Amino acid sequence: MTRALPTHALLGAALALSLLAGGAAAQQAAGQPSGAEPEVQAPVPEVGPGRGRLGPGQVPQTNEPHAPTGMPAAPPPVAAAPTPVAPIPAPPPLGDRNQADAAELELQAALRGERIAGRITIPNATAANLIQPAGREWREFHNRILTWVGGVAVLGMLAVLAGFFLIRGRIRPEAGMSGRTLLRFNLLERANHWMVASCFIVLGLSGLNLTFGRHLLLPLIGPEAFTAVSAAGKIAHNFLAFPFTLGLAVMFLLWVRDNIPNRLDLEWVKKGGGFIGRGHPQARRFNAGQKGMFWITILGGGLVAASGYVLVFPFTVTDIAGQQAAHVVHGLLAVLMIAAILAHIYIGSIGMEGAIDAMTTGEVDENWAKEHHALWVEEEQAKARAPVPGAKPAGAG
Ligand code: HEM
Repeated sequence: MTRALPTHALLGAALALSLLAGGAAAQQAAGQPSGAEPEVQAPVPEVGPGRGRLGPGQVPQTNEPHAPTGMPAAPPPVAAAPTPVAPIPAPPPLGDRNQADAAELELQAALRGERIAGRITIPNATAANLIQPAGREWREFHNRILTWVGGVAVLGMLAVLAGFFLIRGRIRPEAGMSGRTLLRFNLLERANHWMVASCFIVLGLSGLNLTFGRHLLLPLIGPEAFTAVSAAGKIAHNFLAFPFTLGLAVMFLLWVRDNIPNRLDLEWVKKGGGFIGRGHPQARRFNAGQKGMFWITILGGGLVAASGYVLVFPFTVTDIAGQQAAHVVHGLLAVLMIAAILAHIYIGSIGMEGAIDAMTTGEVDENWAKEHHALWVEEEQAKARAPVPGAKPAGAG
């Protein structure tokens, strides 16, 4: 027979159980084993629902155990013992002998104008140079010599051409225009000439801007416009080098045969090319003056282009000394060539009536051609009269 437990006995048992449970929680909070397995703490405290990430408006939570309500707060975790750190050596005193020696040596080298270089660990080996004495000579060349040579060559040539125009005026065919024409340059020759010419003009102007722009253009158009012009000029200068070089190669192949110097050229030079005095020296397709222009274009343009590529791809084939030499060659040859081409542009346009037709329509007046290229006209007429191979003579059945 079972007897019912009295009510006060049940209440007493419930109170005892509750006290036991509270005691176990307090023991866990203090890090003491409670008889069950100890809980392992995460090495990095996790924050929010995802590690390291908080939802909008979320308050960071830690999984550190909380003391149950009404219980005393858990004591802070015991700090780990600090790892021993090796002592950092004190920096050498300011007046250290070695440092002073190095600084003194560098100063003396700088005063003597010697090279000053250091040691670096980055791949760009040239960055180790702080001072390269040849750089001073190069700067002197760029800022003074090139400016003077370029200025005298270009302005001098413009002055000579203006003087020549005032004295001689526009050269016209003595017999006047005949109205009959003959083909002087075919489409390929003309298109290639204008490709070379337009590249050269942009290359020349953007190059002159590098030397003279700061002195001449900047005060005229102001810093913003000058910056925009110079930046565009630099891009054009670098990229037009390629079609210019291609044009030079095509020009060489098209015209080299007619530009080999011969005895006639000496006669042409002796007679001043017909510009001085009266009478026209004999010439085939190109006279001595034009042959000179051809070789200036091919050799001068070729060297300017080659030295330009050395500058566009720095340190690819040369060291710093080579870079500076390439710049000297490029700058000097370019300004001399610009001066020569100014004479060519003059004589090909306003200086001589009828000349420009050769490069626009390709057809020149017969009288113009007979005056300047009499032997070439004879050759062309002989070619025209020559029977076409395979063709039957007129009247033959
Ligand atoms: C606006 C600029 C230019 C004009 C008006 C011009 C005009 C001419 C003309 C009319 C001829 C044909 C001459 C003839 O019938 O015998 C010619 C030929 C030639 N041009 Fe130009 N040219 C210009 C720019 C250039 C430039 C920049 C170069 C080289 C970089 C150049 C190189 C040559 C060469 C090598 C010849 C063949 C040789 C000669 O006739 O002198 N030209 N040009």
